[in-house]
Amino acid sequence: MSVFSDVPQAPPVAVFKLTADFKEDNHPNKVNLGVGAYRTDDCQPWVLPVVKKVERLIVEDDSLNHEYLPILGLPEFRSASSKVALGDDSLAIKEKRVGGVQALGGTGALRIGAEFLRRWYNGTNNKATPVYVSAPTWENHNGVFTDAGFTDIRPYHYWDAAKRGLDLTGLLDDLEKAPEHSIFVLHACAHNPTGTDPTQEEWKKIAEVMKRRKLFVFFDSAYQGFASGSLDKDAWAIRFFVSEGFELFIAQSFSKNFGLYNERVGNLTIVAKDSENLSRTLSQMEKIVRTTWSNPPSQGARIVSKTLNSPELFAEWKGNVKTMADRVLLMRDELKTKLQALGTPGTWDHITQQIGMFSFTGLNPKQVEYLIKEKHVYLMASGRINMCGLTTKNIDYVAQSIHDAVTTVQ
Ligand SMILES: Cc1ncc(COP(=O)(O)O)c(C=O)c1O
Repeated sequence: MSVFSDVPQAPPVAVFKLTADFKEDNHPNKVNLGVGAYRTDDCQPWVLPVVKKVERLIVEDDSLNHEYLPILGLPEFRSASSKVALGDDSLAIKEKRVGGVQALGGTGALRIGAEFLRRWYNGTNNKATPVYVSAPTWENHNGVFTDAGFTDIRPYHYWDAAKRGLDLTGLLDDLEKAPEHSIFVLHACAHNPTGTDPTQEEWKKIAEVMKRRKLFVFFDSAYQGFASGSLDKDAWAIRFFVSEGFELFIAQSFSKNFGLYNERVGNLTIVAKDSENLSRTLSQMEKIVRTTWSNPPSQGARIVSKTLNSPELFAEWKGNVKTMADRVLLMRDELKTKLQALGTPGTWDHITQQIGMFSFTGLNPKQVEYLIKEKHVYLMASGRINMCGLTTKNIDYVAQSIHDAVTTVQ
């Protein structure tokens, strides 16, 4: 009898299961639109040229070693990350009320932030503070906040399926009705999975209600640069909220915009009222990190830090990000054009209206099943597709397959 015999089998994580199923499929035309990572037009992962260059610089730099980093991480990485989010001329940074915690990817930043909020926000160890996540959202949001101890995770209205766009009325209504001090997780840009972001005017309305109702903003920024190709445009919402005087958290991921998925590079940017509040907050963050991963890994943070802190490398990185964003935009355009040319029933404008790596196609679960089983085109049950799974070589096949799914299965 094993001491583990009562351990129940947990269900697999959907996105990784999909990729495993895809790998086992021997069909020559198979396409994986499920993965959450960038792919080139040859369907390959991409090591950004600027990353390769910086990796070489790191190897050659004899001043570097493998000593532990400080608990809160590489100082020049943390400050540069916060600057990318808040902008070069951020008043909050000048006022010394912005700090960072280097984290294991965006997930680590969310988790450390959630842990802190449970311990110290809205009373000590207040597990009952409502945490609102968008409906739908990246599925890990629920798990991260639950595992940090929160007991009241609620969905807020976001996606209007009929309109295939933002349900602003529902969202504003949820903000109005939420108990004061509730925590709201907001996707800074390129909402996952819907690819639908509020416009600047809509963000202003959201901010107005959140300020009045004393709601806490926790931005999840996993795709800065991916939405529009511009780092500044994609940070507009964050910068607007900061300019409105919010104290807030930003979980930054450099997995996608640096292609550093397995290096686990993230940063939790904290914007506090003043430096004194920031300093106490960081002291508690240090306690949390110490018992979680003790100190973070250095390689990914060094790559990001060296890039962000050198004007030449920074310019090169912006070019690399734009290359990725532009390929996504091109695939959006082509998929819409092809579906329209095929006369596929329904409207497909949302494919180009949505932004970022993902598109919420509006395909229903039966159509998704048809695509996987009959066409070997793999996508999430929600109908979400990664636009980078499309290439100039497979796009005709995918468009035809979607057309067949929509006309065959209602
Ligand atoms: C919305 C969102 N937040 C956070 C993350 C986590 O990023 P990371 O891989 O850096 O932990 C992802 C990754 O897919 C995401 O889509």
